[in-house]
Amino acid sequence: MNENFRHREEKTFSGCPHVSRIIVHSFVGILSSIDPRPSFRLFELEPDSKVIFGFSASADVESELSKTPRFVKHAKYFILMIDKALGMLGPDIDLLTEIMLDLGVKHVSYGVKPEYFPSMGRALIHSMQEQLGSRFTEETKDTWVEVYGALSYDMIRAQKMKH
Ligand code: HEM
Repeated sequence: MNENFRHREEKTFSGCPHVSRIIVHSFVGILSSIDPRPSFRLFELEPDSKVIFGFSASADVESELSKTPRFVKHAKYFILMIDKALGMLGPDIDLLTEIMLDLGVKHVSYGVKPEYFPSMGRALIHSMQEQLGSRFTEETKDTWVEVYGALSYDMIRAQKMKH
């Protein structure tokens, strides 16, 4: 997957090359050490979300991680989705919106509540801050807030329509 991102880094995206460059740079940084542990913050913020990832409600996630590959699998789904979304900025934006709305509906069936989205965003940013240190600049953070916010906005919108 690293190779994929290195390749994308050199590409000029039709939508907003500056935003894409910032996102891809920070991803290349974390992908080299894909370690789900820093993201455990999600479970501190939303303990109930443990269950939808296959952990028991009282689980010590760290020691049970090897028993449930679902959480690690999600990190990969998530990264692939962001990669796909960046490639679709620009002329394909309407199609991207449709994809995110569909993905939002799917998340209802996985048991994901709308309020988990901001917590996942916080966990993600916290994780990148920990892993990238000073390389995770204010600009990178603001860009992530914007991109994660835009993607989750459509997913939450779809979830609310479904309820
Ligand atoms: C912008 C935010 C998110 C993106 C882009 C995203 C992306 C994805 C994708 C692409 C899949 C695979 C969908 C498929 O079945 O085709 C997926 C599955 C899933 N997502 Fe997310 N997700 C997001 C937020 C969340 C949040 C906040 C949670 C819960 C806290 C969550 C929990 C799950 C679960 C439990 C699955 C099913 C995993 C499995 O198949 O075992 N997602 N997500």
